[in-house]
Amino acid sequence: MKVIITADHAGMTVRNVVKELLEEMGIDYEDTGCSCESSVDYPDYALPAAERIANGEFDRGIFICGTGIGMSIAANKVKGIRCALTHDMYSAKLTRQHNDSNVLALGERVIGPDLAREVARVWLETEFQGGRHENRIGKIGTYEGKDA
Ligand code: RB5
Repeated sequence: MKVIITADHAGMTVRNVVKELLEEMGIDYEDTGCSCESSVDYPDYALPAAERIANGEFDRGIFICGTGIGMSIAANKVKGIRCALTHDMYSAKLTRQHNDSNVLALGERVIGPDLAREVARVWLETEFQGGRHENRIGKIGTYEGKDA
């Protein structure tokens, strides 16, 4: 699995914790987050990273900002992205099993680094269940394919 991780200025600490986790888990990753001496705009980080997942360069992404909301809104504008803003382990597990989410958004100002790390770990370890969920995800893909 190849993972792209990105963050704005409000996600620096959780970004570092998640990078440590990816290294411990032996997961190949690229960090495209900001160097962040000053404040930046989260769409400038979320949209290019999401496109690199949608085009197949990466399997999954972890996007971090202050609340996780901006990153998730932006990521979900990219066709083929199913970004889940998730701050608990139950949702992290279920969004992989049922939604096959390919991006996890985390909000550093909402959860602390220890919980963020555990949420990310569960999300990375959990497989999609397929079956009835495949059909439901297919309906989202069909909608995305329609002309606006
Ligand atoms: C930055 O202040 C903050 O707005 C951003 O990190 C994010 O929380 C937006 O949704």
